[in-house]
Amino acid sequence: MDSCIAIILAAGKGTRMKSSLPKALHPLAGLPMAVHVIESVRQVGVSRILLVVGHKSQRVRESLGDSVEYVEQSEQLGTGHAVLQVSQPLQAWAGDLLVLCGDTPLISPQTLESLLVHHRASGATVSMLSGMGGYHAGAGRVVRDEEGRVAGIVEEKEATTSQLEIKEWNTGIYCFRVPWLWGLLTNLPLHPNGEYYLTDVVVTAVAKGESVEATLGADPGEFLGINSRVELALAEGVLRQRIRERLMVEGVTLSDPSSIYIDQWVKVGADTIIYPNTYILGRSQVGQGCLLGPNSIIKDSVLGDGCTVLSSVVEGATLEGQVDVGPFCHIRPGVYLETGVHVGNYVELKASRLGRGTKIGHFSYVGDALVGNNVNIGAGTVTANYDGKAKHQTIIEDGVFVGSDSILVAPVRVGARAVTGAGSVVTKDVPPGAIVYGIPARVRRERGK
Ligand code: UD1
Ligand code: CA
Repeated sequence: MDSCIAIILAAGKGTRMKSSLPKALHPLAGLPMAVHVIESVRQVGVSRILLVVGHKSQRVRESLGDSVEYVEQSEQLGTGHAVLQVSQPLQAWAGDLLVLCGDTPLISPQTLESLLVHHRASGATVSMLSGMGGYHAGAGRVVRDEEGRVAGIVEEKEATTSQLEIKEWNTGIYCFRVPWLWGLLTNLPLHPNGEYYLTDVVVTAVAKGESVEATLGADPGEFLGINSRVELALAEGVLRQRIRERLMVEGVTLSDPSSIYIDQWVKVGADTIIYPNTYILGRSQVGQGCLLGPNSIIKDSVLGDGCTVLSSVVEGATLEGQVDVGPFCHIRPGVYLETGVHVGNYVELKASRLGRGTKIGHFSYVGDALVGNNVNIGAGTVTANYDGKAKHQTIIEDGVFVGSDSILVAPVRVGARAVTGAGSVVTKDVPPGAIVYGIPARVRRERGK
């Protein structure tokens, strides 16, 4: 859709949010509000997107990165003034300009597509999306003449009692012909609150005899504008439900959907079952046939097929296939668990790799460790990785048997197939095949002898 450029207005103060965070960055299903709008526009095939920023613009730019172009509106003088700011960067351009607000995150690509199709088919100068019914507190009303043609938009706070009765409201989403628009924007009237309203473009267009079209959106819920935390919560509910339904359609079982919270960009494979009170957040990816929850939090993690996470927290970790975790474990960032690893009750893992088939069944802490294949780590094992100044690595080679209550004082290496006796404090490297025990642990004999 290269004949169309989109702009998203996000410079406003968001006063009604009563927040130090710019409104565009308030999270919804794990993504800043404005990203939902950006994604929807992208899915229609519009590749050039300009975000009008102003209030705390630096913070918005840092958070959203270079996914869009930015245009500064240094003074927030209203939505009409905001759109005028893009006339400069777009002065050489002629085509369709799609205008959206950064605070209307539920808009679907299908609805945007229908607006564009209608705009082109009708050849209108201004096309707008209107809503009927649904939650629309504070929205402008669409005024029509006796013949039913759009005559203007009146803001709720400036509407007469009879205009407040009008059922059709302005969604704040439009398509304009450019460069025709620029001339109008420079002549908008100033309202008593010191703002220039984009909505006044409609009245002016009608007065100049230009064709103005209003298309009624099929689902008014998509146009919910977020002005306060009340609407933020409403939008969050809608988005979460959409995500749940998408996953269920894709073959994922959610045993009690409303108790399960999944972020927008999460992927889950078919035949995975998610039990109640479970959160899958950030950029997590879950394979097929997994059992997650109840009571689990999985954040920014990748899980292969057939994994189980029971009543545990997994964050920033990778689990290959057939890994089982829990109950009551904390798998922290930088953990990589190879196929068939078993992590049982009350285990904390951090920045460690555990090889195929390794088992760590009961209350242990393993941090900054490289653990080989088929290692058995006994109850109460601790890698003492921190000496008060720096973190050190523990290496446990293939086939090692770490006895219960062993403390491995890093940096230290336990050689392949070695054994540490219960209660050992291992302060020196253990040769392959050796049996060590005691405090500090000493080599007593070799395994199998
Ligand atoms: C606006 C519309 C209203 C419509 C509603 C739909 C106007 C005057 N009113 O009202 O008809 O029903 O949206 O949700 O257009 N912004 C800027 N710069 C500014 C002012 C606002 O970028 O100087 C941005 C805001 O960040 C926001 C968007 O424009 O993303 C809309 O502003 P907002 O103050 O929320 O307008 P509404 O009162 O919701
Ligand atoms: Ca708004």
